[in-house]
Amino acid sequence: MDITHIEHIGIAVKSIENSLPYYENVLGLKCYNIEEVADQKVKTAFFKVGQTKIELLEPTSEDSTVAKFIEKKGEGVHHIAFAVPDVAAALEEADAKGVQLIDKAPRGGAEGLNIAFLHPKSTCSVLTELCQ
Ligand code: CO
Repeated sequence: MDITHIEHIGIAVKSIENSLPYYENVLGLKCYNIEEVADQKVKTAFFKVGQTKIELLEPTSEDSTVAKFIEKKGEGVHHIAFAVPDVAAALEEADAKGVQLIDKAPRGGAEGLNIAFLHPKSTCSVLTELCQ
């Protein structure tokens, strides 16, 4: 799949505002972008850690998948995103290898990235995002 690095780690939080002091004051990271992703019904906040980012995900609606995740499992690590040079090609490869896909085709994510999710049923229970 030609993964180059972990692009980001997605963390589900009830409130970005309440989470910022830990990331900024304790870890000393700087939030450089807060952005709403309407089609995923989340607000996102980004921190850089080397070439990897932390992506905080706050649900903006009760029927957001992140809201349902928090309801079921509580706040915490939500997904891992791997950087690949070509999301469509990586999806095709995963599909050919029998992986259950959440997204059959790449779509637009936060920060203008091309993204697609693989289903946790096929990824040892870790929601997995591919992004480019
Ligand atoms: Co993500």
